[in-house]
Amino acid sequence: MELQLLGICILTFISTGESVRTVQLNIPTVVDPRQEKVMLRCDYELSPGETLYQVRWYKDGNEFFRYAPTFNPPGEAFNVTGVRVSRVDSNDRVVVLFQRTNMQLNFETGTSIGGTYACEVMADRPSFDTKYDLGNLTIAVLPQQNPALGGLRSHYQLGDVLDAECTSAPSYPTAELTFYLNDIQVKKALTRQLPDSGRVDGNVVSTTRLGLSLTLQRQYFNASGSLSLTCRSILPGVPGALHRDTKVVVSLRANNEKLAQEAPTDSSSHVSVVNSLFILTVASTILC
Ligand SMILES: *[C@@H]1O[C@H](CO)[C@@H](O)[C@H](O)[C@H]1NC(C)=O
Ligand SMILES: *[C@@H]1O[C@H](CO)[C@@H](O)[C@H](O)[C@H]1NC(C)=O
Ligand SMILES: *[C@@H]1O[C@H](CO)[C@@H](O)[C@H](O)[C@H]1NC(C)=O
Repeated sequence: MELQLLGICILTFISTGESVRTVQLNIPTVVDPRQEKVMLRCDYELSPGETLYQVRWYKDGNEFFRYAPTFNPPGEAFNVTGVRVSRVDSNDRVVVLFQRTNMQLNFETGTSIGGTYACEVMADRPSFDTKYDLGNLTIAVLPQQNPALGGLRSHYQLGDVLDAECTSAPSYPTAELTFYLNDIQVKKALTRQLPDSGRVDGNVVSTTRLGLSLTLQRQYFNASGSLSLTCRSILPGVPGALHRDTKVVVSLRANNEKLAQEAPTDSSSHVSVVNSLFILTVASTILC
């Protein structure tokens, strides 16, 4: 008997503590700065018989919108830098932010709708039970192609200077490029920033170019006389953006005297070196 009573008490306690069952913030992780409006969703589930008191929205800890169905008007926006709410598009589950109309202003002031968002759902009396969820939104234009790696010849001799040029696909923010020689990062000192397109016609996106000059030594080539050069582009400050790689394999000229001295004299391997005298553009791969 006592045990049953205790059970009921616990059940009551749990049910009042669980008026808001779940809250899930559903926002895009990456938003193009040219997108006119951005929709943020706050999906929630109340226990049966419970009603909503209010939903509050925060950006970087600052409340910018509150929706309380019993208030008139139910939606109220607050002044938070970089955020403008479309009140007519917003309700208890959805908040729509204006973006493009704010773009110029946001560029000038260095603000954007990018940041950490939270929605907080509160059930009505008597419990006023509250739950919230968090998520990050980043402003970016992801590159649509792998970087272009050019300037390479199909084959080289020892002592030749390998001159490569890598150009990133248009993106926002501007990509950062890095060269890898046989999958080992090349020292910055061997690379140089080249003039790039910059921002064209007030476009948001831009490209960047990086050059590499490398005097070729025997140890850069493997036993079959090949080396691989990779150009990798990353978007700084965009969590979750995949890096993009373009890899090219070049070969040592087979009749190179030094190679002849150092490479195995076995004729089958000689043939394989001859056969690899072309640029093998490895299908550019996107790696994590
Ligand atoms: C919003 O805040 C900014 C600075 O905090 C202020 O300059 C601006 O006038 C405010 N806007 C409104 C509508 O209150
Ligand atoms: C949001 O980004 C911050 C760093 O800027 C990170 O600490 C936090 O874990 C992220 N939150 C989510 C929900 O991804
Ligand atoms: C040499 O490098 C090329 C390109 O990375 C590769 O295809 C080849 O298998 C390598 N050969 C040896 C013997 O490691």
